[in-house]
Amino acid sequence: MTRAAAHLREIRALCQGRVLEQPLLCKYSSFRIGGPADVIAEPRTRNGLIQLVQFLKAEAIPYVVIGRGTNVLFHDAGFRGVVVRTRGLGYWGLSPNGSQFGLFTVEAGVSLPFLVTQACKRGFGGLEDLWGIPGSLGGAVKTNAGAGRTSVGEHLRDVTILTSDGQVQHIEQEELCFGYRFVNLPAGSLVLEARMRLTRESPEIIHTRLRAAKFRRRSSQPRGIPSAGCVFKNPASDLSAGAMIDRLGLKGLRVGDAQVSEIHGNFIVNRGQARARDVLELIEIIRSRVEEQEHVSLSLEIQVIGEEGAR
Ligand code: EPU
Repeated sequence: MTRAAAHLREIRALCQGRVLEQPLLCKYSSFRIGGPADVIAEPRTRNGLIQLVQFLKAEAIPYVVIGRGTNVLFHDAGFRGVVVRTRGLGYWGLSPNGSQFGLFTVEAGVSLPFLVTQACKRGFGGLEDLWGIPGSLGGAVKTNAGAGRTSVGEHLRDVTILTSDGQVQHIEQEELCFGYRFVNLPAGSLVLEARMRLTRESPEIIHTRLRAAKFRRRSSQPRGIPSAGCVFKNPASDLSAGAMIDRLGLKGLRVGDAQVSEIHGNFIVNRGQARARDVLELIEIIRSRVEEQEHVSLSLEIQVIGEEGAR
């Protein structure tokens, strides 16, 4: 048996979930862009994920962990190594926390839209502004995803992570020091689970806030077309990258099938057959125009994954 075949056999044994060879990454990205990976692996349990990651490290096999692929750009050449998806970590539960609060325990692979819906349905408020943000809870915690005045971090009670040296660690809210698209997690760590404390509120209040959030998102962001959400971080709390790109007249600018959204300047949409290299070229054009004319340097919010894509 070759070394590669032995690795694959071990990956399958540890994973106990779906393992595919040569998957096209465009199928696993909301951008619908990306070439093949060597392997994609979806561990079915938390232990499977931990053991798989430990094995990949021990064997020095390149790997990357993703949630639902909603904030990533896979390179056209794909990824030489294993793409690990957390989708199988789908447990969630709700327990009372005094008469006024509910404690949601949520594994990394649970979808954020599902969690928002469950919280609202069960009469717990606080997450309504996050309606419409796609992706997994793990990814949302790692990037402190947010919208309006809410971000995931402010509702967290604690987070369970796998550290880069393979230890499972609990981190309390006080230590997480959340900021704009930032959380203080040890470098190279992986979110396994989070606990969120939400407040019981009247269904009418929740419904009103939810309706407002849906309206805001539907009227200001592109829908029904592949994208990875906002491409750039906002340079400052009172400076929207989208608004700057709009002011410079860059909406609608196109490289191949990659286009700056005509609805929101910080979205790049895939009009059909966009390649990563089109998106990256568009990103460079936007960056240099913003740098030249506004003297602001934009940094990426999306993660570029793959051979020539790392930055
Ligand atoms: N604006 C424009 N033109 C545009 C886009 C925005 O003039 O093309 C103006 C808006 O009219 C508004 C202001 O800029 O006056 C702010 O716009 P918006 O409310 O859309 O906020 P944003 O700062 O551009 C952030 C997040 C979004 C999140 C929205 C809503 C970042 C990078 N983006 O965008 O998050 O949905 O607020 O709360 O922080 C994402 O992270 O993927 C994302 C889309």
